[in-house]
Amino acid sequence: MKKILDCIAEEMRAAFAACGYDASYGKVTLSNRPDLCEYQCNGAMAAAKAYHKKPIDIAADVVNYLKGKGACQTDAAVCAEDGPAECEAMFSDISAVMPGFINLKLSGEYLAGYLNRMKAADKLGAENVGQNKTVIVDYGGANVAKPLHVGHLRTAIIGECIKRLGNFLGYHMIGDVHLGDWGLQMGLIIEELRDRQPNLPYFDENYKGEYPKEAPFTISELEEIYPAASARSKEDEAFRARAQEATFKLQNGYEPFRAIWRHIMNVSLADLKKNYGSLEVTFDLWKGESDAQPYIPWLIQDLQDKGLAYESEGALVVDIAQEGDPKELPPCIIRKSDGAALYATSDLGTIIEREKDYQPTQYIYITDKRQELHFIQVFRVAKKAGYVKPETKMIHMMCGTMNGKDGKPFKTREGGVMRLEKLVKEIDDAVYDRIMENRTMDQAEAEETSRIIGLAALKYGDLSNQVSKDYVFDIDRFTSFEGNTGPYVLYTIVRIKSILAKYEEGRKAGEGADGAVSAPGGAYGKMVPEQSGGSGTGITPASVGILPADSAEAKNLMLKLSAYNEVVETAFAETAPHKICQFIYELSDAFGSFYNTTMILKEEDETKKAGYIQLITLTREVLETCIHLLGFEAPERM
Ligand code: ARG
Repeated sequence: MKKILDCIAEEMRAAFAACGYDASYGKVTLSNRPDLCEYQCNGAMAAAKAYHKKPIDIAADVVNYLKGKGACQTDAAVCAEDGPAECEAMFSDISAVMPGFINLKLSGEYLAGYLNRMKAADKLGAENVGQNKTVIVDYGGANVAKPLHVGHLRTAIIGECIKRLGNFLGYHMIGDVHLGDWGLQMGLIIEELRDRQPNLPYFDENYKGEYPKEAPFTISELEEIYPAASARSKEDEAFRARAQEATFKLQNGYEPFRAIWRHIMNVSLADLKKNYGSLEVTFDLWKGESDAQPYIPWLIQDLQDKGLAYESEGALVVDIAQEGDPKELPPCIIRKSDGAALYATSDLGTIIEREKDYQPTQYIYITDKRQELHFIQVFRVAKKAGYVKPETKMIHMMCGTMNGKDGKPFKTREGGVMRLEKLVKEIDDAVYDRIMENRTMDQAEAEETSRIIGLAALKYGDLSNQVSKDYVFDIDRFTSFEGNTGPYVLYTIVRIKSILAKYEEGRKAGEGADGAVSAPGGAYGKMVPEQSGGSGTGITPASVGILPADSAEAKNLMLKLSAYNEVVETAFAETAPHKICQFIYELSDAFGSFYNTTMILKEEDETKKAGYIQLITLTREVLETCIHLLGFEAPERM
């Protein structure tokens, strides 16, 4: 469905053209003076220079033209009573004001018509802008055998949202967890294991039999082994050297270590899936750095053959500096002097694999912002070497840090790294306490509800911030039912659900009384009740449709709703989930004002009441669609 701003701009462009000015001046924006108008067009100001006229004269030309044409209902009614919705006069007010602004207000009929079309449209009018486009989203980044911690929280939450958004807009989104499964942590675990259980067959060089199917450790043992080994390697140089050697052997295919590696992978993956699952974050691919390894020898050779990679101090590097760089960027190291491949090499190998398997039109990587240089280097090498087409978009979404209230990266009270499970539990508990404060709910429902609201609090708390900004993780604020929070939006949805349920109950009771049947959903404004009388009049929200606003609050709610498809598209195009949060926060506020000033269920005029119900049903649908895109759902009650 065409965006409302585009509909208005189209009208304005045609008007400029009809008055003899270039159509391009007919640009329209949301008004920055909502007290004066809803939309504004500043084209007359720009046109003044080109046409050597006063801006106000141009504005007046355009306004007079629109009025004469009947685009403004205050001056003319162009549409026949039964004409199609599209021919409603678009504006209820157009004026040219000094020095040359054109102020616009949408007519109630036009706006209601737009919302009714939106209500009937697939996906509420969001278009399939992504058709035939494949996007790889790389947003897990967890490191195998290391517990998932809050550092991985942002990328998971943001990535899940970007993936859902893209899929919703018709893109073929492929989410890859891209595990860190190939680094030194593997060698550390292997050597620590050797010291603890020297009799395992993996450490017997003469062992010829099959290796055990069962891993020699559980996930909790593994989670203890890695930090122990990591701490040890910082003090014990010989141990560190052994771990490096083991990593090297593993990476070169030494079978006993590959067998241990497979155990580590199996045990960790089960745990990672559980953890991501509790965040309702899923991936299409569970690949990792190890999957890139088969491509690396070819890659290194190819970069040399193309004359891009050269030796520098024993290492193999590719220059990536470009004219116009604000500062000098160091070359990308492809191979260290000791022969080891690096993080960048593995990302380039992964790109070669992804191009072979998926030919994506776009890549989106989501990581901590400290990886900025890494991705500049990887993207430039990939393009320079022609692994990725020049037109393929490569985006690095750089996440700011989640800080504690002290402004430093978030830690546990003891100063350690907070485990994700623990964090999720703390939020759920906080919500549970809030729910129980002044409500009665049985324990099982309260716990399930806390889980749902807790997830919303956590995800919204994160997504409502601009991705690149640091933010303070504040459980009290995130779980509050008021303000710009997830629970506030959920509360709005729950409130609408409850009104709708009451309306349904009332209608059923009414129908029972006189047996009236609901009229099938008809066109907006053509409300002709099949039967009337009592409250079972046959008047249904669907047959009445959304009616022109009868209050400033209703108009404001309707204007907010009409921005939905624009917001969803922009949030994806600009990889900016916070725009959806801002939108649903404002929408929830707009609903709140409408609700406070409108007697919805007590309205005596059944037609009017049905119109309100249709309006809040659309509000609910928009809110529910948006929170689903953000990655959470609403409970039945709260
Ligand atoms: N494992 C990495 C880390 O924890 C993140 C991986 C991000 N994805 C990528 N393709 N480099 O820092």
